[in-house]
Amino acid sequence: MSQATIESVLQEKRLFNPPSQFSQESHIKSMEEYQRLYDQAKADPEAFWGQLAEQELHWFQKWDQVLDWQPPFAQWFVGGKLNISYNCLDRHLTPERQDKLALIWEGEPGDSRSFTYAQLHRDVCQMANVLKQLGLKKGDRVGIYMPMIPEAAIAMLACLRIGTPHTVVFGGFSSEALKDRLLDAEAKVVITADGGWRKDAIVPLKEQVDKALAGNSVPSVHSVLVVQRTGQQIGMAPGRDHWWHDLRSGVSADCPAEPMDSEDPAFILYTSGTTGKPKGVVHATGGYNLYTHITTKWVFDLHPSDVFWCTADIGWITGHSYIVYGPLSNGATTVMYEGAPRSSNPGCMWDVVQKYRVTIFYTAPTAIRLFMKMGEHLPKARDLSSLRLLGSVGEPINPAAWMWYHRVIGGERCPIVDTWWQTETGGIMLTPLPGATPTKPGSATYPFPGIVADVVDLDGNPVGDNQGGYLVIKQPWPSMIRMVHGNPDRFRRTYWEHIPPKDGDYLYFSGDGARRDPDGYFWVMGRVDDVINVAGHRLGTMEVESSLVSHPAVAEAAVVGKPSEVKGEEIVAFITLEENYTASDTLAKELKQHVGQEIGALARPGEIKFTEGLPKTRSGKIMRRLLRSLASGQEVTGDTSTLEDRSVLDKLRGGA
Ligand code: WTA
Repeated sequence: MSQATIESVLQEKRLFNPPSQFSQESHIKSMEEYQRLYDQAKADPEAFWGQLAEQELHWFQKWDQVLDWQPPFAQWFVGGKLNISYNCLDRHLTPERQDKLALIWEGEPGDSRSFTYAQLHRDVCQMANVLKQLGLKKGDRVGIYMPMIPEAAIAMLACLRIGTPHTVVFGGFSSEALKDRLLDAEAKVVITADGGWRKDAIVPLKEQVDKALAGNSVPSVHSVLVVQRTGQQIGMAPGRDHWWHDLRSGVSADCPAEPMDSEDPAFILYTSGTTGKPKGVVHATGGYNLYTHITTKWVFDLHPSDVFWCTADIGWITGHSYIVYGPLSNGATTVMYEGAPRSSNPGCMWDVVQKYRVTIFYTAPTAIRLFMKMGEHLPKARDLSSLRLLGSVGEPINPAAWMWYHRVIGGERCPIVDTWWQTETGGIMLTPLPGATPTKPGSATYPFPGIVADVVDLDGNPVGDNQGGYLVIKQPWPSMIRMVHGNPDRFRRTYWEHIPPKDGDYLYFSGDGARRDPDGYFWVMGRVDDVINVAGHRLGTMEVESSLVSHPAVAEAAVVGKPSEVKGEEIVAFITLEENYTASDTLAKELKQHVGQEIGALARPGEIKFTEGLPKTRSGKIMRRLLRSLASGQEVTGDTSTLEDRSVLDKLRGGA
């Protein structure tokens, strides 16, 4: 976060109280009620979570023990048996609810489909039966590489129905990135589509799958299930590739949900870390189901008549938890949109709100800043009066964006929930409860009941008010990451060893910096590690650097983030070239494209700076702090005495 943004955060002093009508009708109506829940949960977490699990979910078999905590390994609802797909579908097949809309979908070209709970259940059962026919057994893993179409959600639910954890790979990732993830997860089946619509063009997903699997490079994959979306010509490998519409015909819609152990993995989702290789974050069935269920209900104050729209892509944790699992577990109506604002249809988001009378809208600050830039005449020309609650996630929201969201989209009547959480946390951790918490623009306010958060120094000591420190979580919570897939060492190192246990509490290290103000409000500042947040997407600097150095022209690469108006941060790459190569605009363009091909367009650097050398310490570590200052045009301040070669810095300053 840039200094300028931090200052504007500090300058916004207004407090926004929940409208009294909203509070009266909400699940958690006051700060007293919040405090009571928070205190109860802190004093006796097992009683708190045990009671919720009993009230809110269906279990085939009750647990013997709520929590078994052998730091850093937690097991929740030990011995309990349940199925997430059952909780999201079957239990809603009552006479009152089975004909309620579960999923409303709008395609980019303007086509649309919707599914009642009964219809969604039927499709999920059929796909689950097809997956079984393809030979999948409980515990096998399935890759999902899909556009934002209903079959993406159907595929996820079908996998969980038969106990085959999915790993969803964002459709904007390249074939290389897809291959790495399929290999790491040892996926047996890939579910994809011929293509998807993205800004008036077709994203050739199946073609990317073919590239990822070429030459049997992922030997575990034996079948590919292809959904027809765009209808363009694609190749189908005989024996390996099957059309969904072919296999489903005649398949039974009866597929009982497999009773899963509460601790059985539900899914793996890859996320960037500080090394070159993304981590497979493993989530477990019972805890994940309960936590996403209860956060959806309380944070978004869900009521039966709500139409809930989370604009994330299904390839990210936000799409998992708040398009699919949280809303459906609650029996809500969830909206899924394939499109994005584009020049041919800049007001499309507001058309969707108007058309479906969306009541709860959850998006990212980068999107809000884009909406601001596109102009308020677009939302003003639509009827947004159905909205009653707004949410934000993915990065710190700057007060200017918060105020615009509040005024233009929320009509000054909708509370805003700024929710802080991560792929690893499974669900929302710091957040206002909209009927209870007075909000301050830019602050994610307080921990959700049951979450004990703190801001500490590297020794685990709490820092004082308004002092920056590391954001940590002090007690286990149901949807916490269980494991980095196949790598317990990395799990320990990344999350549990940066900061030593304090007074018997193991501290979960989030990788974010934060401060707490004298009212106890949390202000998350952004990553403190080598992770960049570009338009709400996490990218490891090492990941981008390794892709750059794989280009023959590049000798060394160092990547840093630079503040950007819309994206929050943008990638700047400092490059030294191999002999025989010369810096040029053409080469810069080629390198950007190269990263796009290797990882995906989201990782493409905004700027390439060629330089003769990189500033390093005497032990050879790149001094990113200096590069960050240089990239954002700030004076290089602080200690530079550890620099190995001062002339490098002078040259960089001189207009690299
Ligand atoms: C950042 C997305 C400030 C943070 C759910 C975190 C936020 C990373 C907020 C996780 C917020 C997310 N305020 N920062 N409200 N929400 N972040 O894993 O740096 O894609 O560590 O999960 O996004 O990104 P991830």
